[in-house]
Amino acid sequence: MIKIKRLVDCTIADAVTAWNDGFEGYFVDATTTPEKFLTRMVMEDLSPALSIIAFENIRPIGIVMNGVRMDHGQKVAWNGGTGVSKDYRGKGIGKLLIESTLSILQKENVSIATLEAISENTVAISIYKKKGYLVEDTVEFLNLNGKQKQNLIGEVKRKFTVERVALQQIGQLPFYKSTNPWQTRWQSAKSGEGLLVKEENGDVLGYAYYKKNYNDQGVHTGTTMYQCEAKPERVDAEEIIYQLIGCVFGDFTDNINRTVPNLPMNKSKKTYSALRKIGFETTAQQVYMVKEI
Ligand SMILES: CC(C)(COP(=O)(O)OP(=O)(O)OC[C@H]1O[C@@H](n2cnc3c(N)ncnc32)[C@H](O)[C@@H]1OP(=O)(O)O)[C@@H](O)C(=O)NCCC(=O)NCCS
Repeated sequence: MIKIKRLVDCTIADAVTAWNDGFEGYFVDATTTPEKFLTRMVMEDLSPALSIIAFENIRPIGIVMNGVRMDHGQKVAWNGGTGVSKDYRGKGIGKLLIESTLSILQKENVSIATLEAISENTVAISIYKKKGYLVEDTVEFLNLNGKQKQNLIGEVKRKFTVERVALQQIGQLPFYKSTNPWQTRWQSAKSGEGLLVKEENGDVLGYAYYKKNYNDQGVHTGTTMYQCEAKPERVDAEEIIYQLIGCVFGDFTDNINRTVPNLPMNKSKKTYSALRKIGFETTAQQVYMVKEI
């Protein structure tokens, strides 16, 4: 018999087994360890009380990781991974796990449930659609790796004042994109750095936040940019975005890996187009799905 338990009532070993077995044969290697699993839960605000594991007797055979955050007074949830062990797939367990998740979220008074699924993952996407999720956007991972021959945005006049701020302040801006994918929201950029572009009179024209990654020797090996946006009504939005990209990634002659995860092609159209023009390439594409509860 299949029993569903909250992760908080399970061992970490069971959760890690459920995850690793659930993601066997996945599009990318999602293998985790107890250390990585716990770190990810903290970094992405995933909840042990709202995440669930399916068991057959004592064997963990499926998992859904869930997290909830507040956004403008509403509870918003994120599915941070659904997986079913290979030998149990196609038997209705995935559907059962999603139904169970939605009933938990309903009891928690969550207003909006969100998730991303790799565009080619037709089985997963069809389950989510059947359970009421709608595709809201296509999101891409963009990447530009290594030393470039020249500063790719050197010709842009750096005419605006740039100020460093805490990410919480960016979260309060009226044009902050709080409905972009979960992992791009400021709460996921823990220990990241925030930038504002300002006009002389102090008006905020744009923002970006990012995190620099270092290796064990303290060498800067990569930068991840979570969001970069200009005030929507600005006719010079493109220039603002270019200036911010320049501040985030430097002069492009460093030998680093530059990553932009889960960038919405429609909701962040101007940033998407600027990054593609500079030379960023798509490494993965996902659908962003949303369900009102
Ligand atoms: C996606 C996944 C969670 C689905 O779980 P599952 O237990 O196999 O799904 P279910 O048995 O509940 O099937 C749900 C539906 O998908 C269909 N389905 C399941 N496996 C299928 C397959 N290999 N090919 C075609 N359809 C399939 C079922 O027929 C069912 O359709 P129905 O509602 O019309 O009956 C599971 O395949 C998995 O763990 N995959 C690897 C990890 C992964 O991709 N996770 C999703 C991340 S977004």
